[in-house]
Amino acid sequence: MLFKRVKSLDQILATAEKKGLTRQLGPFQLTMLGIGAIVGTGIFVLTAEAGQKAGPGMMIAFVIAAVVCALAALAYAELASMIPVAGSAYTYTYGVLGEGIAWIVGWALVLEYTIAASTVCAGWAGYVNGLLTHAGFGLPHFLQAGPMDGGSFNLLACLIGLAITLLLVLGTSKSAKVNTVLVLVKISALIAFIFVALPAVKDQNFTPFVPNGWGSPMGGIGVLGAAASIVFAYIGFDAISTAAEETKNPNRNIPIALIGSLSVCTIFYLLVSYAAVGSVGAQPMLGPDGLALEPGTPAFAAACQGSQALVCSKEALAHVVRLLDHNNIGSFIAFAAGIALPSVILTMTYGQTRIFFTMSRDGLLPSKLAKIHPRFHTPHVITLITGSFVALFGALFPVGILADITNSGTLFAFIMVALGVLILRRTQPDRPRPFRTPLPWLVCPLAVIGCLLLFLNLSKEAKITFFVWGAIGLVVYYLYGYRKSHLANGTEPS
Ligand code: ALA
Repeated sequence: MLFKRVKSLDQILATAEKKGLTRQLGPFQLTMLGIGAIVGTGIFVLTAEAGQKAGPGMMIAFVIAAVVCALAALAYAELASMIPVAGSAYTYTYGVLGEGIAWIVGWALVLEYTIAASTVCAGWAGYVNGLLTHAGFGLPHFLQAGPMDGGSFNLLACLIGLAITLLLVLGTSKSAKVNTVLVLVKISALIAFIFVALPAVKDQNFTPFVPNGWGSPMGGIGVLGAAASIVFAYIGFDAISTAAEETKNPNRNIPIALIGSLSVCTIFYLLVSYAAVGSVGAQPMLGPDGLALEPGTPAFAAACQGSQALVCSKEALAHVVRLLDHNNIGSFIAFAAGIALPSVILTMTYGQTRIFFTMSRDGLLPSKLAKIHPRFHTPHVITLITGSFVALFGALFPVGILADITNSGTLFAFIMVALGVLILRRTQPDRPRPFRTPLPWLVCPLAVIGCLLLFLNLSKEAKITFFVWGAIGLVVYYLYGYRKSHLANGTEPS
């Protein structure tokens, strides 16, 4: 039954034309949207977690995650250019595997976009709380972290989530311009980091290179375990495809922005991780049994008390530079992260609202959610609802847990997109493909295998959350979307 209601691709394209958003984004703004979504908490905060899992071998984890994401990006680019409408993996799956599977993918994308936005709210709050505390204006401890992190409510994470929501309600064009400036700030911080840390690289900091081993298929530790977490650092390139309906000449501009933004970020990450490991080392904190402690546990926190190790830092890049006696540059990096990470929250929340917008246009969510504001021309209802949840989750949960949950939904969506490319090549070989995935029968199966391997290496909590969330999604579908679907009822809105 899940496979029966397949929407024709022509119908998808026609619906988008009928109830469309204004096309105002060009290739530069779109690539900036991608970089704005990609560079964030992953490199600025989770580098420490990757070090704890893999040691200096985390550099390889960055490479593995980059390769898997690049394979997925090649598949995304083909579908995004063929079906340039809002909704990303959700829309593509609707046209290939049918409504039931599309719903599950859309539901999983909530983990990717909403929880990623929350993750960055929490990561941002970590940097800004640090800056305020250093300046003598720190908030009380119970307002600096959620209940699982030793506090009660992460106030700054909540406030930044709400502020971004407001910006999105006011309008895409304004938000995209703000985004471009913030991207430039973020890139300057990474360049400053590389400039200071690269000359300090020492050979001895690379040994032992993989203190926790390379990892096992489901181990969650070692280089593979770190790669599963580091996927978070690359997430965001697919947010570009969710803006397809607002893009000028999407057939050309979407593939350019997808591949371009991912390439730029990969180069920066490799330089940053090499410089971080080589300049101050990245050996994990070990427990009494000589094994690496799991990050985010009380035992790990206790071992980190008073430690200057990279793996213990909550503001990894600023910390490395300070250890190298460049306090001012350390403060600059912290400040840049503080003003620039919100661009990631913006792009992720934006992506989520456009996916919900598309799902409600299809009748799978109530149509009131897709209402466009008469003055701002934005889907304000869904934006306000999404933003409230982003702010709330960011305020209540720790960064590492949120990041792993994000990755679970994302890897699932990547797998579906790669399968979608192969199925469409078989079922609709003649449909125009402005961008064609090179060697699809090699690239797409490799993307599926890579994503599956990384998914299995996520933390147990993330995997359980993924399956519980999926089960809830199926119940919601049978209670609402299954009955109300425009495709099933022949009630396409005019
Ligand atoms: N890739 C984005 C980040 O690292 C989600 O913050």
